[in-house]
Amino acid sequence: MKPIQVGLLGIGTVGSGTFNVLQRNQEEIKRRAGRGIEITMVADLDVARAQDIVGPNVTVVNDARAVIANPEIDIVIELIGGYGIAKALVLEAIAAGKHVVTANKALLAVHGTEIFAAASAKGVMVAFEAAVAGGIPIIKALREGLTANSIQWIAGIINGTTNFILSEMRDKGLDFDVVLKEAQRLGYAEADPTFDIEGVDAAHKATLMSAIAFGIPVQFDKAYVEGITKLGAADIKYAEQLGYRIKLLGITKRTNKGIELRVHPSLVPAKRLIANVEGAMNAVMVQGDAVGTTLYYGKGAGSEPTASAVIADLVDITRLHTADPLHRVPHLAFQPDAMSDLAVLPMSDVVTSYYLRLRVADEAGVLAQVTGLLATAGVSIDAVLQREADEVGGEGATSTDLIILTHDTREGTMNGVLAQIQALPTVLAPITRIRKEELN
Ligand code: HSE
Repeated sequence: MKPIQVGLLGIGTVGSGTFNVLQRNQEEIKRRAGRGIEITMVADLDVARAQDIVGPNVTVVNDARAVIANPEIDIVIELIGGYGIAKALVLEAIAAGKHVVTANKALLAVHGTEIFAAASAKGVMVAFEAAVAGGIPIIKALREGLTANSIQWIAGIINGTTNFILSEMRDKGLDFDVVLKEAQRLGYAEADPTFDIEGVDAAHKATLMSAIAFGIPVQFDKAYVEGITKLGAADIKYAEQLGYRIKLLGITKRTNKGIELRVHPSLVPAKRLIANVEGAMNAVMVQGDAVGTTLYYGKGAGSEPTASAVIADLVDITRLHTADPLHRVPHLAFQPDAMSDLAVLPMSDVVTSYYLRLRVADEAGVLAQVTGLLATAGVSIDAVLQREADEVGGEGATSTDLIILTHDTREGTMNGVLAQIQALPTVLAPITRIRKEELN
C-alpha cells in the first residue's frame, strides 16, 4: 500500500525530531502501522534551513496553505504553536478533510471546543498526545488504557522548566530569581519564560487532561493558575523540615460539587514517588476507582521525546483513518453527545490543606492570637513550627517565622481568616500560603 503522506507545518526542534525518528525507525513503524508513513511536504518560513534538515526528496515551501491545499497530503502536523495563525491553519486543514496532529496545548486548551466540533463535523481526527507531558503517553492512558475507570483525580508535574527551577532551588538553597537567571543562561528556560513560570503552560495541559478524564469541555478560562515566582528558598527549606517537597502541580479532581482544575505550587509528602521527580522531568499521577493510583514518568519536552508522541498519533491515524468515524476513539475520550455538564468549581470552593508562613513579632501571645483566629474560622491545625528569631527593625524588636500546617479547609474560608491574621499588628510581612496535597 502507498505510504500515508504527511505535511509538516513548522520544522523546529520537535519537527526535526519527528522527521528524524520517522526516518530512522521507518521499518519498525511501518510494521506497526500497516503501511509506511512519510513526511513529503514541509512548510517553514526558513525554507533553506528546512530543506537542509529534510534533504532534497521532500518538498519545502514557505506557505503552510500550500501544504493544506495539496490533495496528496492525508495528515497535517501543526508544530507552529500559539493561538494565532496556528488556529486558522488547523481549522483550514480540517475543512480540507485532513487529519491533524498537534503539540499545541495552548490552542486546544483555549479553542478546543471549536476545533473538535469542526473535526467531528468533517469526520477527521485531531490528535494531541504531544500536547501534554511531551513523550509520556498520558493522553493514550487516559483515553484508552484507563477507560474502565471513573477517574477521581489527576496530579501532575507537567512543566519541566519549573520543575528544573524548583529542583535547583532545593538543591542549592537559592531563591527563584537567581535560579531563573541561571536556567536562562544555560538554555533550560526560554528567554521569555512567562507561560512556564506563571503556570500557564501547566494549566493548558491540566485543562486537556481534565476534559478527557471527566468528559467535560475544555475550559482553560475556568482554571485557577498560580506560578512559582513568589516561592522563596525559605519555604522550600521549611517544607523539607516538615517532610515535604514543593512542586508545581497541575491538579484536576472530581468532587461531589464539581470539578477542580488548578495549577499552583503544592507541598507533597517527600516520600511520594512524584515528590522525587527532579530536574526537567515530568510525571503524572492518575487515581481511578478500579485501578487505584497509577504514575507516568518521562521527558515532558525535547526533540525526540515529543516526536515520539507525534509519531504515535500518526500511527493511530494511519490505522484508523479508513474506519467509520463513529468507531474511532472520541477526541475527548467521551462521545460528544455524552459530555458531562459538571461545573468547574471556583477556587474559593476548593478544599485542600495549607502551609502558612508568617513573619511575626517574637513576643508573648502572638501564637495564641493567630491560632485563635484560625480556631474561630473552624480551621484545624495539623502542625506548627517556629524558627530562627532574627533582628528586625530597631529597638531590639525581634521577629520569627511561624509555620503552620492546616487540615483540609475551604479556600474561601482560608482567604477570610488570612485577611484577619494579616491585619494583626504583630504580623510583620505578607503571609505566604502554599497549598498541600497528600496524594494518597
Ligand atoms: N515549556 C514546557 C516545559 C514544554 O517546560 O515543560 C512544552 O510544553
